[in-house]
Amino acid sequence: MTLARACGVVINGVEGLVVDIEAYLSQGLPGMTIVGLPDTAVGEARDRVRAAIQNSELAWPSERRITVGLSPASVHKRGASLDLGIALSILSAHSQVPEMTKTIVVGELALDGQVRPVRGVLVAALCAYRRGYDTLIVPQSQVNEAQLVPDLKVIGVKSLSDAVAFLRGEEITEDLPLPIEFIEETIPDLCEVRGQSNARHALEVAAAGGHHLAFLGSPGVGKTMLAQRLPGLLPKLTDDQAVEVTAIYSAAGALSAGQGLIRTPPFQAPHHTTTKAALIGGGSNAVRVGMVTMANHGVLCLDEAAEFERSVLDALRQPLESGVVTIARSGFQTVLPARFQLVLASNPCPCGKFIGTGAQCSCSSQVRRRYFSRLSGPLLDRIDLRVTLERPSLAELDPSSGELEGTNIVADRVANARARAAHRFRDEPWKINSQVPGPMLRRRYPVSDSARELLANDSLEISARGADRILRVAWTIADLRGHDTPTETDVAAALMYRDGNGSWQAS
Ligand SMILES: Nc1ncnc2c1ncn2[C@@H]1O[C@H](COP(=O)(O)OP(=O)(O)OP(=O)(O)O)[C@@H](O)[C@H]1O
Ligand SMILES: [Mg+2]
Ligand SMILES: [Zn+2]
Repeated sequence: MTLARACGVVINGVEGLVVDIEAYLSQGLPGMTIVGLPDTAVGEARDRVRAAIQNSELAWPSERRITVGLSPASVHKRGASLDLGIALSILSAHSQVPEMTKTIVVGELALDGQVRPVRGVLVAALCAYRRGYDTLIVPQSQVNEAQLVPDLKVIGVKSLSDAVAFLRGEEITEDLPLPIEFIEETIPDLCEVRGQSNARHALEVAAAGGHHLAFLGSPGVGKTMLAQRLPGLLPKLTDDQAVEVTAIYSAAGALSAGQGLIRTPPFQAPHHTTTKAALIGGGSNAVRVGMVTMANHGVLCLDEAAEFERSVLDALRQPLESGVVTIARSGFQTVLPARFQLVLASNPCPCGKFIGTGAQCSCSSQVRRRYFSRLSGPLLDRIDLRVTLERPSLAELDPSSGELEGTNIVADRVANARARAAHRFRDEPWKINSQVPGPMLRRRYPVSDSARELLANDSLEISARGADRILRVAWTIADLRGHDTPTETDVAAALMYRDGNGSWQAS
């Protein structure tokens, strides 16, 4: 045989694309060319593949002209995950291994023929399964990741020789796969946060209703502590969500060896120096996922939010509105999932002391306004819950002042409240209060007259949008308290979160 084929997978965003690898051996000037828009990494594959074959006691077809074609040509092929497939297709064209059918091969080759781990093995496995392939050859250390997809025959190889042995039907000495560790990410417990009863309650409401949340307060009062505890209050991911999230982490190269499906809602906290590309995703060739996508079905925490570049904050508009990010590259678009719950934390001003009367703040009003203006508009508008944190008192910080409620207890209440909402919304596309569109909210879920009158108070100057935000939160508070509709006290409690006791500009 002089023409043979193998299949590989390349990752674009969170999608896998099957790439056909064809090797053709012909008469002519000896040498090797790879065609099909390979980037530099695939170009380097030529040298790696040749060295790996020669160092694996296999014959390099040195008298022949070798042409390797990768298709579809329009797909950007990035990274070295096609190495192993290229090597096997050449060996197959040279009749050293039988033809591969219904098999996908992923793995990078080292010069000595060892197979190295690659990004996106779970994505490749899902892709193989959905496209009807039945065997997947992967780096030995990533067998667990591929095996998260049932009904797929997964072959782990440590080296090119192993892969050749497998295709020849010989025994290969597979290492026992690592035991799958269900690494329960250790989320810190809510009982460690002392005082801050308002903020603790707001966190519970946020978890129950899926509301975006903002904390405003001086340095060191517990904003970051609280934000980190939100994933522990949220329900565990469903099976479908777990596969989706784990595949995203796989595509991002962020899964550790032996890690099982991710079951805890992810938590992503970009630093305020994070670039737009790192946050949203992008890259010059194949699209790399950004942190908003890694926060899908979980929490995106913008700590020190006012310190972010304005353009970076503005880039969050699309995902907040639509739950996806669209990345346009010359000629094609990639859409990545990005449905997350936002927790934003900020100091009130550069000196951090403009809380309450603001008497201790040394910033000019102009400086304060400029600092805060980055957050206003589209970002703050979408945040239903706004809380101002005061410094906890010494008595509150004293552990002997009693045990506070921990994550388990609060998470149980959150689960019950979510169940109530899900029942109310059983025939609707939305399942949590934060997702109810404004017009539906008013039309289908009326509250009592007395409760509504609270919002009609002229001196509060509540806009229609502001009223929607308050009502969504009031419903969640009612769900937590076991009320069928929000009472006056539920609405009053929601009102308190409207503008963080006046520290956030109400809209
Ligand atoms: N309410 C609290 N209960 C217990 N410990 C607290 C509390 N607030 C702050 N601390 C202690 O102070 C440390 C800093 O808290 P944290 O990072 O949450 O503050 P922050 O409000 O995010 O501050 P910054 O504005 O500087 O980011 C915590 O690690 C904890 O040790
Ligand atoms: Mg902090
Ligand atoms: Zn200040």
